Amino acid sequence: MAPQHEVIEALPEKESSERKEIYYEGELYDVTDWIPKHPGGNIILYYTDTAEDSTLPIQQFHHRSIKQVLARMKTFKKSPAPISRKS
Ligand code: HEM
Repeated sequence: MAPQHEVIEALPEKESSERKEIYYEGELYDVTDWIPKHPGGNIILYYTDTAEDSTLPIQQFHHRSIKQVLARMKTFKKSPAPISRKS
């Protein structure tokens, strides 16, 4: 059986690999908890799975409601994107 400290160290890595993020304007937004609530449905999953730049798709799909969308995005955990993404 592995020593206790090895088990504890493995947990954060496992958890972070299950998080779903969206790239928008140079930042990564953690949308994991929002996915089941997204009014546009599971299309959002395509962008988390490919990790591509979602900036233009988000602006285009929500052009009538962009203020509401940006307000929602402010509630997500945000981190700087380490590398530029394909679009
Ligand atoms: C940070 C990620 C996202 C947030 C916070 C978000 C937020 C929202 C909100 C608040 C709505 C309801 C208002 C509206 O109808 O426009 C919505 C609807 C929608 N979203 Fe998103 N969205 C996100 C990502 C995406 C992505 C990546 C796509 C696809 C490219 C997408 C496609 C749609 C579609 C198709 C609707 C339905 C629009 C309609 O019924 O007219 N969303 N989203």
